[in-house]
Order: sequence, then C-alpha cells, then structure tokens
Amino acid sequence: MYIEPMKLKLQDGRRVILRSAEPEDAAADLRCMQQTAAETEFLLLSPEEVSGEVPRHAAALEDVRDDPYALLLVCVADGEAVGRLHGFVKPRRRVCHRFRLGLCVRRAYWGQRLATAMLHAAERVAREMGCLQMELEVMAHNARAVRLYEHEGYRIAMVHPGAVCFPDGRVADEYLMIKKL
Ligand SMILES: CC(C)(COP(=O)(O)OP(=O)(O)OC[C@H]1O[C@@H](n2cnc3c(N)ncnc32)[C@H](O)[C@@H]1OP(=O)(O)O)[C@@H](O)C(=O)NCCC(=O)NCCS
Repeated sequence: MYIEPMKLKLQDGRRVILRSAEPEDAAADLRCMQQTAAETEFLLLSPEEVSGEVPRHAAALEDVRDDPYALLLVCVADGEAVGRLHGFVKPRRRVCHRFRLGLCVRRAYWGQRLATAMLHAAERVAREMGCLQMELEVMAHNARAVRLYEHEGYRIAMVHPGAVCFPDGRVADEYLMIKKL
C-alpha cells in the first residue's frame, strides 16, 4: 500500500521524510532494523536474526508496496531509515476490521514524535480501509512505548504472561493494546 510522502520538521530542527518503503530502501531498512534491535531489547528480533540479504528484502518490500492489505512506512533522514512501521490486515472477512502494527525508531531520533507521526499515518490508512480497530503487542516493561500508545488512545486489552524469554533467562509479559476507531 502506498501513502503520499510527508515532510516532517523535528522539534530539534532535523528534517525527515515519512513515506511508503520502496524496494530501493531495502539496505537502509535492514540497517534500521538491525541497529534498532541492537539499541533496545524491546523488539522480538535480535540483531543477528535480521536477514542481511538485500535482494530478498527488496522483493519483500515490493510485495508489501503492491499488497492492498499491507503497509510499510519508513522515516528517512539524510538517506538513512531512522524509523519504520509495519502494518497489515488479514484478508479474511471476519478479522479484516483489525489493523495490526509494529514500529520502531532509531534511538538518536527518540522523543521527536516520529512514532506518533507514523501511528497517525497508519491510522489514516486503516480508516480508509474501513478498519474498526488498531492493534499492537508491546512488552509490559516497555513503559515508554506503553505510555505513548495510551497517550494515542490505545488501551490494554489482554496480558500474555511469559510471552517473551530473553537469552539470559528473564521472562516478560506482553500486552495486546487496542485502539477503537
Ligand atoms: C517506543 C518508540 C517507538 C517511541 O518512538 P518515539 O519516536 O520516540 O516516540 P514519540 O516521540 O512519538 O513519543 C514518545 C514520547 O512522547 C510522548 N508524547 C507523544 N505525543 C505527545 C503529545 N502530543 N504530548 C505530550 N507527550 C507526547 C509520549 O508519551 C512519550 O513520552 P516520554 O518521552 O515522556 O516517554 C521508540 O522509543 C522505539 O522504537 N523504541 C524501541 C523499540 C520499541 O520499543 N518499539 C515498540 C515495540 S511495541
């Protein structure tokens, strides 16, 4: 799915383009995933699990761009992807009212409302698709993300006990958060 590019001026003056990912973004998008995964433990992927194969990722980005049920947004600053949001709807009549999403932002860009801007863009797409709710999963101890989602109108709908197990043996719960549209 495609959205018109948006120019954002961050609070600290930096400029970012928020747009749909294109196949040419494959290398930058993989770097963004790898780097964010290394900067935080709050993603399900660990850095070494991000596939390094650019051509395969480019093909996946092309599929998403052409898929009316999928959305991949990237925030680009100086040619680098510094944030991304992946959203999708299952093309089944009984569940296609649920827009599922996941997002991340490079640490150097936290607190600049990039996540907020991507959430708003995804919500506009979801409304155009006729979706009735936005859904995401977040680790329960990811307090900053939970606060952001609550601020944006998401509510904790379900707790998934022990959903995540870290390599050091720690176990974390996950929340399913939902925003009704
Ligand atoms: C969680 C994450 C996506 C947030 O991205 P971000 O671009 O920094 O988020 P934003 O700047 O849009 O919003 C975050 C902050 O602004 C606050 N905020 C957002 N809109 C606001 C508004 N209109 N008024 C006041 N506060 C606002 C949020 O509550 C939060 O506050 P805090 O800085 O005091 O904690 C980012 O930190 C990240 O990628 N973390 C690692 C991966 C991750 O956790 N992903 C989410 C998995 S579910």
